[in-house]
Order: sequence, then C-alpha cells, then structure tokens
Amino acid sequence: CGIVGYIGNDQAVPVLLQGLEKLEYRGYDSAGVAVFSEDGLKVVKSKGRLRVLSDLLDGGKALTGTLGIGHTRWATHGAPSDVNSHPQVSEGGRFAVVHNGIIENYLYLKQHLMRRGVQFVSETDTEVVAQMLEYYDKGDILETIEKVISKVEGSYALGIINADHPDCIYAVRKDSPLIIGIGQGENFIASDIPAILSKTREICRLKDNEIAELTRDGVKFYNADGEPVEKEIEHIEWDIEAAEKGGFEHFMMKEIFEQPKAVRDTITPRIRNGHIVLDDITLTAEELRRFTKINIVACGTAYHVGVVAKYAFEELLRIPVEVDVASEFRYRDPILNENTLMIIISQSGETADTLAALREAKRAGCRVLSVVNVVGSTIATESDDVLYTWAGPEISVASTKAYSTQLAVIYLLALYIGEQLGKFTQEQLSAYIAALEKLPEQIDEMLKHKENIQFFASKYFNASDMYFIGRNVDYAASLEASLKLKEISYIHSEAYAAGELKHGPISLIEDGTLVIALATDARLFDKMMSNIKEVKARGAVVLGVATEDKKEIAGQTDMVFYIPKTASFMLPSLSVIPMQLFAYYVASMKGCDIDKPRNLAKSVTVE
Ligand code: G6P
Repeated sequence: CGIVGYIGNDQAVPVLLQGLEKLEYRGYDSAGVAVFSEDGLKVVKSKGRLRVLSDLLDGGKALTGTLGIGHTRWATHGAPSDVNSHPQVSEGGRFAVVHNGIIENYLYLKQHLMRRGVQFVSETDTEVVAQMLEYYDKGDILETIEKVISKVEGSYALGIINADHPDCIYAVRKDSPLIIGIGQGENFIASDIPAILSKTREICRLKDNEIAELTRDGVKFYNADGEPVEKEIEHIEWDIEAAEKGGFEHFMMKEIFEQPKAVRDTITPRIRNGHIVLDDITLTAEELRRFTKINIVACGTAYHVGVVAKYAFEELLRIPVEVDVASEFRYRDPILNENTLMIIISQSGETADTLAALREAKRAGCRVLSVVNVVGSTIATESDDVLYTWAGPEISVASTKAYSTQLAVIYLLALYIGEQLGKFTQEQLSAYIAALEKLPEQIDEMLKHKENIQFFASKYFNASDMYFIGRNVDYAASLEASLKLKEISYIHSEAYAAGELKHGPISLIEDGTLVIALATDARLFDKMMSNIKEVKARGAVVLGVATEDKKEIAGQTDMVFYIPKTASFMLPSLSVIPMQLFAYYVASMKGCDIDKPRNLAKSVTVE
C-alpha cells in the first residue's frame, strides 16, 4: 500500500495523484483521496488502477481544497472494492484515515464498537481505526490518537484528518514506514520517499508511536505520551529510481532484505496464546479428518515450496502427499476425489497452468485451499479457502519473499492441521511454534553476513555449470537454489538428490566443477558428508551449507556457510537465504539484468 498527504497553498488533489503515481511500482488494486473542500471533508475512492480515480476526480477539477490524504491499496483484509478502498471514514464523517499495515486485533475491536452501536460499512481493519477515533474523541485530538493506538495491535502507518481541525494532518506509525516531508509553506506525509521527492528533499522519519501534527507553516512531533519531541531533518540525495528501491540497487535485493518482516507479518497474526489460529479458513477438524490424501500443485518457485510441503506434511501429519507442477498435473489424469485436499500455491494468483489445475481439481470434487499473495486474484477467488501470504508486492521477477512467506504459510498449515488432528503433544507444538516465531530474526541475522557469500560469488561467478545437491528438505531447497541461479545469472545449473548423483550426474564432475552441498538436515548429515567426499574425489570445488554445530564439514569443503538451527522441516527457510544472495551476487558480477531476466515474466497467464 502507499500513503501520501499534502497541506499547503496549492490544490491538494494533483499533488496527491502525482504522489500516488510514484508509488505505482508497489502494485495496487484500488486508490482514493480525502480532501477538505469548501463543503467539508470529501472522499473519492475506487477499485482499480489510479487512472480510474484520476478520471473520477477529473484530474483534480472535481474536488478542490488545499489539504488532503491519498492512498493506494494492496488488499490484505477485505477484497479489492470501492467500499474497502481507503480513505476509510468514521460513521459521523468526522475522521478520514489512510492506513498501511495490518491491525491484528481488528475483529475484537470491531465487535466491541458494534456492540455499542457503531455501524461499519467495510470489511477492512482500517475502518476500525477511523471509527475508534470518532468513538473515543473528547476534543483533544492528540489524546484521542494516543488512546486509539494504545488499543490497536499490529502494524500501522496512519494518515488522519479530522473535521474539527481542518488545517492539520496527523500521522503516526508502528512497524510500517512513514515519513514527513518538510517544504516551504507546505508539508507532506508519505509511506515512501518517491511519493514526495519531486516536492521536497527534506524529510523526517517517524519512530514507532511518534505523532506528527502538520500545518501549512510547520510540523510538530510528539512522543507516545504526548510530550513534544525534536526531530532531525534528513536531506535526501537519491534520485527517484534509487528511492523506489529503498536505496538498494535492485528490487530483488530489497525484497531479499524484506524477508524478515514479510515472514513476521505472515506468521504473527496467526499465532495466538500458543496456538495456530487460521481465522481465514473454514475447514473444520471433522473435514480435516476426512482427507486421505493431499495434492499440491504450483509452478516455478511456488512448486519448490510444494516440495518442502510434502516433506513437512508427511513427517508431521502422516498423510500421503503428491506434488506436481501444474502443467503436468493437468494432463496426467490424476486420481482425485472428495477426500483429497488440494493445495494450490501461487504468488500472483493468476498463473494460467495453476488456475487450470485448480479448476480440474474442483471438477473432481476436491476441496481447494490456496496459498496466494495477491488478494482478490483469480486463484484466490475460485478457491474454497485462501491463506494469504502477506509479503506485499513482489516486483523482481525472481521470487524471494514470496517463497519465504509461502513456506511460512505451509508450516502454519501443517501445524494447524496437526493440532486439529491431535498429532502433537502440547510440548511438541510449543517447540514448533517457538521455532517458527524465531525464523524472522534468524533470517535477519544471516543477512548481516552477506559479504561471505559475496566473496564466494566473486571467486566463482565465471563458472559455466553448477550443481546443487541435498537430501530431504535440503534437496527441496536445492531445487530453488538452482532455479534462482539459472533464472538471473544464465549459468547452467542443476539440482540433484545427493544420493542420486552416483546414478548419472557424477559423470559430469571434473576438476574445478562447482558443487554446492546443502547439508543442514542433521538426520542425513553423515550421508551428505559421504556425497561431498565423492565429488571432492573427482576434483569438485565444494561450498557447504550446514548448521552452525556441524563444524566438521569445514574439513571436507572449500568454503562453508553456516546457518542457525531450527526444526528440520523449517530448514529451507534459512538455507535458501545464502542461496538467494549467491544467485544475486553472481548475476550482479556478470552484469545481468537482475530484476528483469531475459525470456521470463513475473506472471505467466498463458498455457
Ligand atoms: C513465473 C515466474 C516465477 C514464478 C512462477 C509461478 O514463471 O517467473 O518466478 O515462480 O511464474 O508464479 P506464481 O505467481 O503462480 O507463484
């Protein structure tokens, strides 16, 4: 989502539209503005692209006023629609709010207000904030905002306007970025720098729970207790393109670094009081007991999540799982019936082969649950149940944060089903949940050591072939590691089950061949060591990836990248990180077009 706000002496709507346009690279499904006009607070919003809003506003002529807030939405709660678009307005029309982030306890807050007679019109978590502001308002706006933010849980960047203060914009945030732009006789708010960069290069970054009060002449900042605070002004040197990438050279790297947050956003709202809570799906324990088989269908990176899922589900649930790439599934006449749970995985929710497989499964009477990133996409709409990954828009063609959040959803689902079917003791469940909750910080920690991988890439980026080997979930992660590398660096690479090496591909290993051995699974570590020796004996150069307790791997490999320990089925979430970085650095050193690799498309909507 994107936020922009303007207060000054110019007309607000053109400034807002221009700002929103600059946020287009983040992707969106609806947009809207709220402006103080001569007749009071007015809102215009619509589903669809910015053009639709711009036409409604007649480029600005249809709504005049010099103070306003605008928003582009990337749906999380509630499908894309006019009424779910932002700004969201309180029942009495006195507050308008734009919001990025997720209010985790919105259902509870909503029910609380509804019992007191407040009427809601949208399905959004954001409307709860607008309604609470009006409900709790006793005249002191700062106190009202403080009260509301003390009650909401989750992440938010909020732009607020209030009919009682028609010369002010208020802004507050937690765990979701928001900046204040300082101009001459005009000031701005924005979720991202590009939205206001053509207007000002002087910005202040809001810290968690700091409140900004913008007037035409200046900006005042307050801490969460309402005490005034001084803020430093930062001068932005970047150009607009660099700003869109948040200072990273490529979207891929930006998205790699967004993974801790994306995984956290996907997991945290679904863990409550030591249990997995999947409010979003309707499957009952009784229905879950009925399933005798799980089929998983996807393409590309999403398929590689499916391969991990097979290991995870079979280990934890003892239910047989079949995984197929969608284009194969469609034409192999699969054996399906109403006792089959069909899981569809897709970032875009629009991949043609995957969609066709979904329809095939529905025809066969399967229950379909999809794991999708884009809310309201075709696959999401046609599935019986959807579990969204809250990765935010993924721009780079090579998928990174979508993969990580899809894995997170798979773990959540496996644990949820396991708990419903009584497969775990409370102790086991608690241990799994603790491991899951730790993933974001573990990923974060690994990203801090990216130079080790960069160094390794600098030595081998000229290789013409690479082989990735692993067993069990390490094999699943190898598939993704190999795909990442070939997609963006155009180096020929293959992923092989390490034990299968001796049945063919070992004939390709000669002096200097690069082999990347994923040996993170403790249960199979010794077997992997044997495979590493096999390829070393034939002259291979080996990069080992192992958990930090397995220092002995260093003796057999040319270089090692250590990852933290976690539950075995969750290892791919960690081992994939150095592999993404490796692919990135190799491609970068080869001078490839990393975000837009040749011949590939982000979403393939043809068969
Ligand atoms: C394309 C992309 C891949 C992606 C695959 C599946 O081939 O280049 O990165 O994994 O489609 O896309 P989906 O949107 O269904 O996850």
